[in-house]
Amino acid sequence: MNLTKSYIESNKDRFLSELLDLLKIPSISADPTCASSVRQAAERIANNLTQAGADHVRLEETAGFPIVYGEKMVDPKAPTVLVYGHYDVQPADPLDLWESPPFEPIIKDGIIYARGACDDKGQMFMHIKAFEAMLATNTLACNVKFMIEGEEEIGSNNLSTFVTQHKDLLQADVILISDTAIVANDIPSIDVGLRGLSYLEVSVQGPNRDLHSGVYGGAVANPINILCEMIASLHDEFNQINIPGFYDDVLDLSAADRAAMAQTPFDLDAYQQDLGIQAVHGEKGYSTIERASIRPTLDVNGIWGGYIGEGAKTVLPSMAYAKISMRLVPNQSSEKITQLFTEHFLSIAPKGVKVNVIPHHGGEAYLMPTDSIAYQAASDAMAETFGKTPIPTRGGGSIPIVALFEKELGIKSILMGFGLDSDAIHSPNEHFGLFNFYKGIDTIPVFFRNLKQLSQS
Ligand code: BES
Ligand code: MN
Ligand code: MN
Repeated sequence: MNLTKSYIESNKDRFLSELLDLLKIPSISADPTCASSVRQAAERIANNLTQAGADHVRLEETAGFPIVYGEKMVDPKAPTVLVYGHYDVQPADPLDLWESPPFEPIIKDGIIYARGACDDKGQMFMHIKAFEAMLATNTLACNVKFMIEGEEEIGSNNLSTFVTQHKDLLQADVILISDTAIVANDIPSIDVGLRGLSYLEVSVQGPNRDLHSGVYGGAVANPINILCEMIASLHDEFNQINIPGFYDDVLDLSAADRAAMAQTPFDLDAYQQDLGIQAVHGEKGYSTIERASIRPTLDVNGIWGGYIGEGAKTVLPSMAYAKISMRLVPNQSSEKITQLFTEHFLSIAPKGVKVNVIPHHGGEAYLMPTDSIAYQAASDAMAETFGKTPIPTRGGGSIPIVALFEKELGIKSILMGFGLDSDAIHSPNEHFGLFNFYKGIDTIPVFFRNLKQLSQS
């Protein structure tokens, strides 16, 4: 391992400059005007994999953006690790809130600032560089397959199809993913759960055209007023979600699990200060950590309608819209929740309006047991490189493809992330610490070594 470490040490500047080059490509999967850049990022990663020494590197075409595949089979008796990551990023807006342009990466005080620095280019790239280092020093102990997609941020629909159609190609003992966070740089952790997601859009139609809000106001249902009332009614006074059946399938954590979770270091003042808020807000009876990881949620992600231009326009709008996301927990079904929401939302609409619900992408929650060889390999690897055993945590975000991997391929995923919750992923000024980038590259080879050893014993 010392060999690998010294290879990494003597190549670290090049690793970083290669990552910065990748970060310059605006691979925003949601933005049609970026389509050629998204593809360019895929080609760049394919080149990186080839240069690192992977075999059979190729772009697997899909109905959308390509999946980058590559592999190195070293020993049929050794475990096979499937590395998953994504090269697409979220849109960068609001652009004016960035202190430096999102696709002109800069390093300030040991931190890389760019869209995708943490989610997920920076974290995915650690795997390519760790792989390069293992191959170059002849220390790669396991077989590796890489599957890097370009549509994670828009729901991974085409990857789902690819996975169900390529079960043989993707056979592996474990899936390794760095697309989550640790508690702090001196408190390593491994997410053993992810939340699921139900995402939908609603519209409320009132009169057949925009009206003068003086001539008709007071006599005709205003769809924005109505939408606000309907949305407000979706939470009760305890901040619980008011949709019949919503909690039916939620499995409550045991008292022991909740007690363990309460041990996770958490500084409420620092949390509030970081966000510029005076108080936290959420479901009664649960801690902030619980609210943001093991409890389901319902949030409006966007709401619009009527006049939002400069100055005033006295209008009673014809239409109102909102996008709504529900984070789900293990055993809740995304499809069922979408249906419960839809039925409920239609049922509370007053007669004067027409309501429509359009479901978008969704996905199931995920749980990883800590008593597996793969978890042990990851935990021991982090313990070695951080000097502290990582604590198992539950992530609040979603990577819907992870549950699908388990369902279709029967393979569990290890979420060995190296970001921080404060890295501002999806926000302006997204960043990733050099400490985290290099810690990831150091830790991944230890994981491979441990997995091989543990699978032999
Ligand atoms: N990497 C994130 C998910 C994540 C972040 C999990 C932090 C745990 C901790 C991923 O890229 C993401 O943003 N997922 C989306 C879901 C997707 C369907 C758009 C999400 O969670 O909103
Ligand atoms: Mn991600
Ligand atoms: Mn993301």
